Amino acid sequence: MWGDLIIECQPLQFKLVYNAGMPRLLACLLIITFAFTAPVVAQERVELTVDASKTGAKIDRNIFGQFAEHLGHGVYEGIWVGPDSKIPNTRGIRNDVVAALRALKVPNVRWPGGCFADEYHWRKGIGPQRAQTLNPNWGGVIETNAFGTHEFMDFLDQIGAEAYLSINVGSGTPQEAAEWLEYLTTAQPTTLAKERAANGHPGPYKIAFLGIGNESWDCGGNMSPEYYLSQLRIYSRFVRNFNPAQQDKQQMLKIAVGPGGGEPRWTEWTEVIMKAWQNHQWSWDMNGLSMHNYTVVRWPPAFASVGFGETEYSQILKSTLDMEGLIAKHSAIMDKYDPQKKIALVVDEWGGWYAALPGSTPGFLVQQNSMRDAILAALNLNIFARHADRVRMANIAQMINVLQAMILTDKEKMVLTPTYHVFKMYVPFQDSTSVPVTFNAGSYTRGDVTLPRVDAIAAKDATGKLWLEITNIDPNQSLEIEVNLTGVNAKSATGETLTAPKVDSVNTFDSPNTVTTKPVSAKVQGGKIALTLEPKSVTVISVE
Ligand code: AHR
Repeated sequence: MWGDLIIECQPLQFKLVYNAGMPRLLACLLIITFAFTAPVVAQERVELTVDASKTGAKIDRNIFGQFAEHLGHGVYEGIWVGPDSKIPNTRGIRNDVVAALRALKVPNVRWPGGCFADEYHWRKGIGPQRAQTLNPNWGGVIETNAFGTHEFMDFLDQIGAEAYLSINVGSGTPQEAAEWLEYLTTAQPTTLAKERAANGHPGPYKIAFLGIGNESWDCGGNMSPEYYLSQLRIYSRFVRNFNPAQQDKQQMLKIAVGPGGGEPRWTEWTEVIMKAWQNHQWSWDMNGLSMHNYTVVRWPPAFASVGFGETEYSQILKSTLDMEGLIAKHSAIMDKYDPQKKIALVVDEWGGWYAALPGSTPGFLVQQNSMRDAILAALNLNIFARHADRVRMANIAQMINVLQAMILTDKEKMVLTPTYHVFKMYVPFQDSTSVPVTFNAGSYTRGDVTLPRVDAIAAKDATGKLWLEITNIDPNQSLEIEVNLTGVNAKSATGETLTAPKVDSVNTFDSPNTVTTKPVSAKVQGGKIALTLEPKSVTVISVE
């Protein structure tokens, strides 16, 4: 006969239905076993030590850059709806998207590609008559060129970001690129400047960053490193920025194509470009070397962006942590030729790349964005921050509706993704100064994957305020965190945490706040901060 039994196994009290014949000891053992294998259970303790009297490299705001390619609904529908749209817009650019991006303080936007950039001809995207062309890389759809140079610059102006222009090296010419820059930047009354004025912008534009090609080893023309180097020298020489305000100060930074992985093919690429730069003559130069690294596990992308479990969660996060080794590998090569770290490593494409959502248009790279992506974003931003002396710029792929996006739109609807919330939480780290933080991360294991349980960075902002980010990777266990602070007289610590019910929780148009931030406060006593981190959470606190 079955009956009710209440057994107290302090500190937890369990109620269960038991077989009256079952020995009491066995029942208690079963309960204890259950308690230690159930998903959300006891709290672990992790100690962090932060010495705020010591500072390291500046965490450049440009590592929070974005990437907007003419791909799927990234630009068209995501940014551009046209001035006649019923969707509220300013000169054709959606107001809701602009407001959301302003809150992120987006430092720079890379445009127009990606692979698209090496087939883009800028003249088709200016003036009243726009050519209808094709976008062969991404679905072979019609490119209306409605969003061109002026619309991009207007968009940047509306969100308050700098331009990172990617010029066409693959199928363009140095003359075409040189004329684009003259059109954009000269203050003199040249024919191109007059054309710019006739198209609505009399004054020169500021172009902060120039990307010389994209993945020239692959979709950008399948070049050898030596062949690309010859192109780099030519484009770097002739594609000039004439803006008078960018001659002595705020000079345009030129970014060369760099590696796309860690294999010998890529280390050779970095070697060839960096070695040539070390001995470069006055007539060419560069300021950055790009690196692309997606979290994909294997090609073609097969992991689902929705409806996955803890196994896929842990596998993707293991793969994303490879970013650390990849940066270290290429930084070591760069250090050989540039020990003063004049050349930045620019991770201008990164993020999770998953299987396209079933039913989405092929080639549009449509995926959802989950709590897993929030953790992935935090881990990568922390890696960039730890390498801040070399990694001074990065661009997540991509900003809206494509790959690991900040924002998803569907006609008039818009939703902010978990990744958006992480970027917003990290705003205080823009142009902050790193502060060393040490900790024993512990470990979290799922199947054959073992990951650090915790990750953290610390930094001081321009006012001297101390900020801490702590990620709890473990999806099952909350963590008791104790921060030992020196070099700062802490009185209070408050902030925000981002978590969700499940590792694959997402925000949808119908349910936009499943993954969202909530306030968190910590106890401060005797130079120590104590707080509890929820499982699978990203937390940012400031110390006053
Ligand atoms: O972001 C999508 C594509 O990935 C880019 O166009 C290309 O540079 C990379 O291969």
